[in-house]
Amino acid sequence: MKTQTVNGIELAFVDQGSGTPVVLVHGFPLDHAMWNAQIDALSENHRVIVPDLRGFGRSGASDGTVTMQQFADDLAALLDGLEVDRPVVVCGLSMGGYVALQFWQKYRSRLRGLILCDTRAVSDTPEMAAARLEMAERVLREGPAPLVEGMVPKLFAQTTAQEQPEMVDSLRRVMMDSNPKGIAAAARGMAQRPEMVSRLAEIDCPTLVIVGEQDAISTPDEMRTIARAIPNARFVEIAGCGHMSPMERPAEVSAAMLEFLGGL
Ligand code: MLT
Repeated sequence: MKTQTVNGIELAFVDQGSGTPVVLVHGFPLDHAMWNAQIDALSENHRVIVPDLRGFGRSGASDGTVTMQQFADDLAALLDGLEVDRPVVVCGLSMGGYVALQFWQKYRSRLRGLILCDTRAVSDTPEMAAARLEMAERVLREGPAPLVEGMVPKLFAQTTAQEQPEMVDSLRRVMMDSNPKGIAAAARGMAQRPEMVSRLAEIDCPTLVIVGEQDAISTPDEMRTIARAIPNARFVEIAGCGHMSPMERPAEVSAAMLEFLGGL
């Protein structure tokens, strides 16, 4: 991986291929590797830029709270550092989708397209926000285990867990290796993320919405509603997978992304 100092931290990222730049933004508490299949598939004819967000993977962490806007600012600064001045496609899964929506909000003139993958546009309810803040403190005290054990069963379709246990284990390892400081900061940031439902109708760049048929965190119904609210968005439901659709059904997700990118 390459590294670059952006906004006071060292950001690690993959930068592979050439063509229209596509930025892939991982979920919580993960790293760039969840996109490995898409990095291979897309980089044949696109420039694929895949960071470890601040506090995750090999990137440096910061204390306190990292808002979704801060993550979006880091992406913009990374693109500046790489001298990418042509419009980019930003694709985010789950927390990465929260970041992608903030990127749209602040840097829309830099966007060629948006891919929202297994994500949500609502903000946290007060109960969810309180639970996140509590979990942030617990992870700082005890490490990632309590978060990881609660999350892993919700991430994959049951068939994936049965048929590909090694993939589930590899993701669990990434989560367990995450920096508690980075987890806590992002959890606090998610707890205060703005609701974006009321803004979806303003999204005027080409948008693809992807969801796993059995996603228990951002359900197909919720994502269909997001797609309907965004003018001319394309909606693709991927059969036989859950929240981690790009890992569970890599060929199908890459094909949907390539078809969308090909039409830009
Ligand atoms: C994720 O996969 O990034 C998380 O489920 C997002 C969240 O906790 O809201």
